[in-house]
Amino acid sequence: MTKITAAISAVGKYVPDFVLSNALLETMVDTNDEWITSRTGIKERRILKGENKGTSYMAIKAAQDLLRKKQIDPKEIELVIVATATPDMQAASTSAFVATKIGATEAFSFDLIAACSSFLFAMSTAAGYIESGKYKKVLLIGADKCSSMIDYTDRATCIIFGDGAGAVLFEPNNEGLGIQDEYLRSDGNGRDFLKVEAGGSLLPATAETIANKQHYVHQDGKTVFKFAVFNMADACERILESNNLTKEDIQWLAPHQANKRIIDATANRLKLDPAKVMMNIHKYGNTTSATLPLLLNDYEDQLKKGDTIVFATFGGGFTWGSMLYKWAY
Ligand code: UT7
Repeated sequence: MTKITAAISAVGKYVPDFVLSNALLETMVDTNDEWITSRTGIKERRILKGENKGTSYMAIKAAQDLLRKKQIDPKEIELVIVATATPDMQAASTSAFVATKIGATEAFSFDLIAACSSFLFAMSTAAGYIESGKYKKVLLIGADKCSSMIDYTDRATCIIFGDGAGAVLFEPNNEGLGIQDEYLRSDGNGRDFLKVEAGGSLLPATAETIANKQHYVHQDGKTVFKFAVFNMADACERILESNNLTKEDIQWLAPHQANKRIIDATANRLKLDPAKVMMNIHKYGNTTSATLPLLLNDYEDQLKKGDTIVFATFGGGFTWGSMLYKWAY
């Protein structure tokens, strides 16, 4: 019997209209376009504006874009996973709301939270459901309203993050395409270096936590940078080695978009031609769980059936990993 693999059969995306450019940031904090561009590669990011719009707003739009392109009845979807670090609310599942709003009324759903590695880890989860043979259509959405946890007076973080969402549909594949292998890791010793300290069960919201700005992202940028460079490159090398592949066998690197210097360092370690490296950080900044599906949307036209893609992420926790993938359409 041929092994069932899990493959992406459609993609969709949504980014908000509002563009927060480096020029605009120069009017908000003590920074400049030259510093931001040379240190991060970011030129602009999208910000979700308006009342009553959370992460689900963008997740729904990205899913609807996919459904429109793929022309499928949402009732065929059996599972909806929302990968996010910024769920709409504590306790009420964001994915349940998203599934209902897109008409996936026959599906069950859950959120998967693993900071910037949420989408990669959720790809592995989605694949497990498909490979079991029990499920045929799993919708995976990566969405984050990063602006909801950013202090726009802190120049160290406000220049980095943006909002956005991307969706992919996983279906069984009998040609051996889709997910081939993965290397996924975490290390809780990293939790003090990148965090939103308050608002969870450890430190619930009080007047004091708000006054202390503990509901915003704080990161020790240099330490996170060091770990990100080492671990993203290491995870890529390991997955190539364990599959007896060399850089010539790789058509694309799809790295988490946290900093162009981290992406370049990973590509250099693999000695990869820059033309093989997917990059859109200049347009969107770091959209956390949305970076990988936004890359797939932006590069969809250039991907060919059978192309080998290496996905790689690094994020808070710490969480990181790589995945070996063969494009299926
Ligand atoms: O996606 C999750 C994982 N996250 C990451 O991977 C982020 C990893 N870290 C980074 O990307 C980088 O560390 C940053 C982009 C956050 C910062 O870059 P850096 O090269 O590490 O800069 P730094 O924090 O060491 O700051 C260097 C200087 C400092 O000034 P002094 O102390 O040397 O006088 C900062 O105060 O740059 C200053 N600075 C800025 N200057 C202008 C910090 N932020 C800014 C800014 N504009 N926005």
